[in-house]
Amino acid sequence: MKTERCELCRLLTRLALAFAVPWLLLVLLPYFRLSGIEPSRAAALAGQDYGPARAISASAGEKVYAREGCAFCHTQMVRPTFLGSDVWRPGWGGDEAANRSRETRPEDYLGETYAHLGYLRVGPDLSNFGARVHDRAAIHKMIYAPSAVFQPMENAGEQTVMPASKHLYQLKPIVGQPSDNRVDVDGVEPGFEILPSADAEALVDYLISRRKDRLVTAPKEESAPAAPAPAPAAAPAK
Ligand code: HEC
Repeated sequence: MKTERCELCRLLTRLALAFAVPWLLLVLLPYFRLSGIEPSRAAALAGQDYGPARAISASAGEKVYAREGCAFCHTQMVRPTFLGSDVWRPGWGGDEAANRSRETRPEDYLGETYAHLGYLRVGPDLSNFGARVHDRAAIHKMIYAPSAVFQPMENAGEQTVMPASKHLYQLKPIVGQPSDNRVDVDGVEPGFEILPSADAEALVDYLISRRKDRLVTAPKEESAPAAPAPAPAAAPAK
């Protein structure tokens, strides 16, 4: 009887630990770290803004991004270091060469209608995709034919799991010269080319606009002009 009770105690202790530790790490710790952050809209409006306003087509692209479910596999949050090692993944935290790589802050979502934090992280985080890739043609190819660009991840089957979004592109007969913005893929019928729709162009604008590595406040020299060198003190009268 006595040993039975002890086993029950042990089970209860294990259960308590199994729930208490994750609760401590995932709820309590972030609560204390993040709950003191003040809303920063006022600071942004007072001229401490950072980053240019986003292009209109980027906000059209945001709708496409939402509609196509990209956030199901892609996050847009470089996690605080106490929750993960995102900042150490090359390019994720932003422009490392310019020493701007950093964690995402709440203000980074200012001006966005919806913070696409993401649902799962099957593909790479896209917070700073615009700092890594600038080539529109390459991005169209990623969206139109991911398997032509990406190698499958380990143990993930024969092809990348990123689905092709061919419905955002149109097959059109070439009129005169091939268009500059055609998608460069193999196996297109001769005399035809694959052209991005307005939605595909907007989505690419949106992806290129993904930067969450801007300086958090205005650089010093902009916010406070250098003070003139102090005049030499007058010699004290004798
Ligand atoms: C089922 C999951 C899934 C969905 C949905 C998905 N992706 Fe991906 N995506 C991936 C994976 C996985 C990779 C990485 C491919 C690799 O390296 O093998 C990736 C890679 C990318 C990259 C390259 C990232 C980089 O840092 O090089 C971009 C850009 C991208 N996806 C955009 C999109 C867009 C836009 C959508 C919505 C139209 C989308 N993805 C939907 C899984 C997904």
